Amino acid sequence: MYKALSGVLGLLMLLSPSSTCAAGTTAEVPAQVWSFKGLFGTFSRPSLQRGYQVYNEVCAGCHGLRLVAYRNLAEIGFSEKQVKKIAASMTVKDGPNDEGEMFERPGRSSDRFVSPFPNKQAARSANNGAYPPDLSLIVKARIGGADYLYSLLTGYKEPKKVTEVPEGMYYNLYYPGQLIAMPSPLSEDGVEYADKTKATVDQMARDVTTFLAWTAEPELESRKRTGVKVLLFLIILTGMLYAVKRKIWANIH
Ligand code: HEC
Repeated sequence: MYKALSGVLGLLMLLSPSSTCAAGTTAEVPAQVWSFKGLFGTFSRPSLQRGYQVYNEVCAGCHGLRLVAYRNLAEIGFSEKQVKKIAASMTVKDGPNDEGEMFERPGRSSDRFVSPFPNKQAARSANNGAYPPDLSLIVKARIGGADYLYSLLTGYKEPKKVTEVPEGMYYNLYYPGQLIAMPSPLSEDGVEYADKTKATVDQMARDVTTFLAWTAEPELESRKRTGVKVLLFLIILTGMLYAVKRKIWANIH
């Protein structure tokens, strides 16, 4: 009896509109122009490096990037010396050593990015119970990809209608349900760019989105290069096959 009742309740919950949508309908994500979109798309190196800086100085306090190794930063234009310095500034937990103890050491280029929290529970407990997801694949993991991430980061607006925003939650136009547990991470001049670009919220959102599009698909450029080569090959092959066909059929009337 109890089982049947909970089954019916479960079904009703499935059918009812999700409670997270209670605050209002989420705004449509506007499309942005990205250098890495399109057939010949490539990542802008300066933007990638600035994006890394934003991730490192702002997002890394709460979000990990565990699928990326420090040495991968060489692919976006950092020199070997810079990569070593970045890695060495991190503390990595390693071990066990010969005595069976875990120990801490400075990072090496081959280490993956150190996560800000040792486990999910610690991450939740530091963030009001909400879990800041690892950002390595976030651009692939969300519908709308880069456009969504950019909109999310710039979508902390004043609610249009009177919406009650509970303690510890923030209104964001583009987050499903419009109430997110992440406070707006970007503020004007939040970082001082190494290349002296003006750090507006828009610029930082664009740069960090470009950087996270790269972490989600570092092979994008070589994939597109291969694609273009294959297309060229197919066009030439088609031309040759057509010429051969004309030659073979030339004498048949
Ligand atoms: C103070 C901690 C904190 C900082 C700093 C922070 N975030 Fe978050 N972030 C969170 C939390 C907590 C969540 C989970 C929100 C929720 O579940 O409502 C989150 C969620 C997200 C999500 C997932 C949204 C979704 O669709 O599920 C993305 C993407 C994200 N953050 C990107 C960033 C980026 C990029 C930065 C740096 C510019 C950043 N965050 C900085 C705490 C933070």
